[in-house]
Amino acid sequence: MATYDLVVIGTGPGGYVCAIRAAQLGMKVAVVEKNSTLGGTCLNVGCMPSKALLYSSELFEEAGHSFGKMGIKVSAPTLDLPALMNFKQQGIDGNVKGVEFLMKKNKIDVVSGTGKVLGTGKVEVTGADGKAQTLETKNIVIASGSAVANLKGIEIDEKRIVSSTGALSLEKVPEKLIVVGAGVIGLELGSVWRRLGAQVTVVEFLDRILPGMDGEVAKQFQRMLEKQGMTFKLGAKVTGIDSSGKLLKAQVEPAAGGTAESLEADIVLVAIGRTPYTAGLGLQEAGVTLDERGRVKIDHHFATSVKGVYAIGDVVAGPMLAHKAEDEGVAVAEILAGQAGHVNYDVIPGVVYTTPEVAAVGKTEEELKAAGVNYTVGKFPFTANGRSKVNQTTDGFVKILADAKTDRVLGVHIIGREAGEMIHEACVLMEFGGSAEDLARTCHAHPTRSEAVKEAALAVGKRAIHM
Ligand code: FAD
Ligand code: NAI
Repeated sequence: MATYDLVVIGTGPGGYVCAIRAAQLGMKVAVVEKNSTLGGTCLNVGCMPSKALLYSSELFEEAGHSFGKMGIKVSAPTLDLPALMNFKQQGIDGNVKGVEFLMKKNKIDVVSGTGKVLGTGKVEVTGADGKAQTLETKNIVIASGSAVANLKGIEIDEKRIVSSTGALSLEKVPEKLIVVGAGVIGLELGSVWRRLGAQVTVVEFLDRILPGMDGEVAKQFQRMLEKQGMTFKLGAKVTGIDSSGKLLKAQVEPAAGGTAESLEADIVLVAIGRTPYTAGLGLQEAGVTLDERGRVKIDHHFATSVKGVYAIGDVVAGPMLAHKAEDEGVAVAEILAGQAGHVNYDVIPGVVYTTPEVAAVGKTEEELKAAGVNYTVGKFPFTANGRSKVNQTTDGFVKILADAKTDRVLGVHIIGREAGEMIHEACVLMEFGGSAEDLARTCHAHPTRSEAVKEAALAVGKRAIHM
């Protein structure tokens, strides 16, 4: 029987990062993975493949629409979808191999199979051949991630009615694509297929897109997506799909009930969220408590109800984001090594990788209002940013929310090209409890889009220069 200091179940960004940090701290570590490749949802069917498709489809659209006005004459680009999918697969393979390399480099044992928690100190692993082995370990970290949430009464076949996984590998550009859910997946993958030629209709239950993001940002962003050609049906739900004919017929009803309309589509993408994945882990038998939403219940040190068993990432509460999972992985490894591992949940950025990108960190205006916080707003549009003007990519703005009395930055929201890169100066500032004045007095290179962040900080004090 193999004996370890730590066995991590799952090799997504939570699990593999936790394993590496634990190995760095001197622990003997094994990871257990039931999938044939390492890297979890993020590397195989999530963050990475979607970003490859977003990148290539963005360039496809630019080549068709923007090159001409810059004086670059090319004939209309044609799509080679198999080659584009191959480009995506190469990216996945490269990253997965990278994780394999990191496991070897850090002397982490990779055990292939489904891990089951037998209680404190024991993990049973059943391989694809049905053979089971037991790993003995001082500590266990559950990092089993999440799975697609299903829409009641609608069966995902990953061919015509697809989840994000199927939508990352369509064999043909759909003429008509219906996206159920105007969340991050719906808008990112909806953008990919619209750019490649699909007519995209997004059906969203709520009366807004991107719930949880700042309301003003969501409203402006919706307008931009509409200008790009996406159609939105807000306050509506899909109640059934008739798949008997050549085209799918989706029944769309007002969220509050009422007369249904029938919308035709080649493909329907169901993107209404994800649920924690705990199947096969034997948690109930082991006595690991779940919360009311089926997530593994943990305390401030990621400890579950069973001694020596911890949990991180999508399978526990909090935003289902790769970097949140990674940071929790590092924190729990440090705690196990006797250090003060910690995650600051107030400063976890969120990015939607569309064009333009949407990025946010900290509180929204709605949250500050609800909490009764007195705040000041500083806003700066990219139309007034020199670099954005010369590149003719002026969609969007930076919005900074600061405490009215102390000037401490409480939230930063950006719509714009490269917003997902720009947000990090706000993250660092907020980690140090910085003020809008601190940001406004920090020298920013010219000409950069990031100068809009500085200008928004100046605008908090009503002294933006270029507006
Ligand atoms: P996962 O990555 O889900 O990994 C869990 C692993 O555990 C899997 O490999 C699974 O096979 C394995 N496992 C489960 N049970 C067992 C068991 N019993 N035994 C052995 N192995 C087991 N997040 C971002 O931050 N940025 C993005 O751009 C982004 N894009 C996304 C795009 C899509 C289409 C999707 C679906 C998600 C995206 N996410 C993104 C979310 C991100 O993928 C997740 O938040 C992240 O992968 C969670 O990491 P994790 O380690 O908790 O779990
Ligand atoms: P989501 O929670 O972001 O959005 C789901 C949307 O579907 C919401 O707007 C919700 O109101 C709506 N909805 C729910 N039920 C519905 C119904 N019956 N009919 C119509 N609309 C309905 O979930 P999504 O987009 O599936 O993404 C899952 C997770 O993956 C998210 O938690 C996200 O954090 C993560 N992710 C992150 C990305 C990023 O960071 N760039 C990219 C993609 C996914």
